[in-house]
Amino acid sequence: MMAGNGLFYPILGFASCLAFIYMSFGNWRIEDTKPLKMDFVERSGTQFMVNGKAFYINGWNSYWFMDHAVEEYRKPRVRAMLQAARKMGLTVCRTWAFNDGGYNALQVSPGRFNERVFKALDHVIAEARQHGIRLLLSLVDNLQAYGGKTQYVKWAWQEGVGLSSSNDSFFYDPSIRIYFKNYIKTILTRKNSITGIQYRDDPTIFGWELMNEPRCMTDASGDTLQDWIEEMSAYIKSIDKKHLLTVGLEGFYGPNSLKRSTVNPEEWASRLGSDFIRNSAVPYVDFASVHIYPDHWFHDQDFEDEMRFVSKWMISHIDDGDKVLKKPVMFTEFGLSNLNKGFTPEQRDRFYKTVYDVIYKAAKRNRSGAGSLAWQFLVEGMDESNDDFGIVPWERRSIHRLIIEQSCRLARIGGDTLQLRELKYVCGGRW
Ligand SMILES: *[C@@H]1O[C@H](CO)[C@@H](O)[C@H](O)[C@H]1NC(C)=O
Ligand SMILES: *[C@@H]1O[C@H](CO)[C@@H](O)[C@H](O)[C@H]1NC(C)=O
Repeated sequence: MMAGNGLFYPILGFASCLAFIYMSFGNWRIEDTKPLKMDFVERSGTQFMVNGKAFYINGWNSYWFMDHAVEEYRKPRVRAMLQAARKMGLTVCRTWAFNDGGYNALQVSPGRFNERVFKALDHVIAEARQHGIRLLLSLVDNLQAYGGKTQYVKWAWQEGVGLSSSNDSFFYDPSIRIYFKNYIKTILTRKNSITGIQYRDDPTIFGWELMNEPRCMTDASGDTLQDWIEEMSAYIKSIDKKHLLTVGLEGFYGPNSLKRSTVNPEEWASRLGSDFIRNSAVPYVDFASVHIYPDHWFHDQDFEDEMRFVSKWMISHIDDGDKVLKKPVMFTEFGLSNLNKGFTPEQRDRFYKTVYDVIYKAAKRNRSGAGSLAWQFLVEGMDESNDDFGIVPWERRSIHRLIIEQSCRLARIGGDTLQLRELKYVCGGRW
């Protein structure tokens, strides 16, 4: 495996080598005090555009930004991560703009907010701006971490207005829909205490994501989730027309889709109440989102088969983006657990490389595959926030190199970006 590694980087071998010498021994200096001029990211057909140029995204997830920014001793990690990301040419980070009910909650109870935590989110956005990084902000979790739909249902129950104790009543209970709309409105119209800019007017925000991995298994027909997406996406656009919007789907095909049996990982995936095509086709949804977890989605699949699945899964969704949806498709999470039987770090290199190659080929042909965000990156000393997917990218030379190479080659096809101008030593050639 180690010997084979060299074969993955024939083109950038020399440039990367120089880069590593530079990054290891050089004094990398980026002035990061003056606020950077930034434009809104827009959509033109199946592509993202900034300032009239195509924008292909190499990015990552750090869900923990706001939560860590609340505590003084953990706050510096946000800047450290953004600085490191900038040096890897990354341009978009997906992170949580919610923490409902629990410890250091942003929303303490329906409509009540903790100003200290809101200031932490202000800080995250202001810091991202300083580093030329844009944020994809997710508004609620389908899962229980940081509250999620379970917390909303509990609130409705406690206030005596809840229709049902089912977690899925989040999607259909009229009182809970009002809670969530109030939440949306408060976030979108928040005036940042550091920059003075309302979130809805801030180009640092790449876009909004309705929910992390929505599922509504109690209505496998998909009608309940579809109705919720239609209502919430229209509501967001009634407040904010400047930002892009996505749903936050994992990308499974629903019960009426032919790809249910040919592309979905296994049979269960069509019974979650979601449908990639139908949900993403909602007119207010600007781009489609897809996740990639080959190891979690199969029982007993061999690694090589998983990698074949990854390419097929991605190409299928890019085809949908081009031919059916006519919207960009972004792979907003991809990760490989290190708890898998027989896991090796080389497998993670292979997996990242597989994802990056599909995106690169799609981008080169002007196709809808507009970018990918790794799940997840951390800085040193954050074991308590890691799951079995997280990495500190610069601790492993091969993966660090892959990430930079992806930033460079995507920027060469798209427009010039701030990050890439700064990376000219790494990327070589025209930069
Ligand atoms: C809702 O979800 C939580 C967390 O997954 C779970 O513990 C709880 O049992 C669920 N409630 C119902 C009524 O299914
Ligand atoms: C791809 O799109 C860009 C504009 O976004 C255009 O300039 C270029 O010619 C297109 N290339 C191909 C191969 O269609």
